[in-house]
Amino acid sequence: MARIIGGVGTSHVPSIGAAIDHGKVDDPYWRPLFEGVQPARKWIEKMKPDVAIVVYNDHASRFALDMTPTFAIGMGERFSPHDEGYGPRPVPVCQGDPALAWHLAESLVLKDEFDIAMVSEMTVDHGLTVPLSLLFGQPEAWPCRIIPLCVNVIQYPQPTALRCLRLGQALRRAIDAYEPDLKVAIFGTGGMSHQLQGERAGLINADYDKMWLDKMESDPQSLARISHTELLREAGSEGLEIIMWLIMRGALDSSVRRIHRFYHVPASNTAYGMLIMENA
Ligand code: DHB
Ligand code: FE
Repeated sequence: MARIIGGVGTSHVPSIGAAIDHGKVDDPYWRPLFEGVQPARKWIEKMKPDVAIVVYNDHASRFALDMTPTFAIGMGERFSPHDEGYGPRPVPVCQGDPALAWHLAESLVLKDEFDIAMVSEMTVDHGLTVPLSLLFGQPEAWPCRIIPLCVNVIQYPQPTALRCLRLGQALRRAIDAYEPDLKVAIFGTGGMSHQLQGERAGLINADYDKMWLDKMESDPQSLARISHTELLREAGSEGLEIIMWLIMRGALDSSVRRIHRFYHVPASNTAYGMLIMENA
């Protein structure tokens, strides 16, 4: 049977991808961040997942604002990096897992009544590719299959934090019921506090981010009750991305063991956070 081997929460700041692509990881500005994520590389190399479900948001790349699925799953054989204005990132094309993606969609829709959009053709932007680069470096091919799970966190009305936690729980039921013997990792990406525009551009709230990191381990139910208004106020206009971590968290047991935790400011205009957990 398939089983969840662990969850990774990580920000997906685009300039981290640019630093990797342009050989800047040892620059004084970037070195502390890349040192801080080294344990994640070691962990995933040891765990060797067969598939990673990557929960991320599309930043008006594949889905322009004329069509905004609340939740969408990539069903295809492959997903290429999107051109976000500087040409597509020089990263491998993701190999998908259509069989598992169909199983997840079937279980979500028919068993758990999550009406997820099914997308066969999709490109993936920095929300997905930057976490892969952080975890896997610069290989010729990504070392596991990838299922993109895209969440609308940019266009009102976004799903609630509680809905995200419940989606993670539904994904877990689906994974547990999948026959093939697969090791599945789940990534929740985005956050932490950041605001890219307007009067409060550059906002970072380290105390609030650390509270999220604490409770992500110990009390995700309380995070699931947090309103969008609180997130906007405390974590900035783009800080809402953090609700995607709750999808990852919902797919884990209620009791987890922390493998790695790292928090660093600044990464571009944002706070960078990482949390890796296994079932206890
Ligand atoms: C930036 C963009 C993001 O999507 C994000 O999550 C964090 C930072 C940026 O443009 O700096
Ligand atoms: Fe983002």
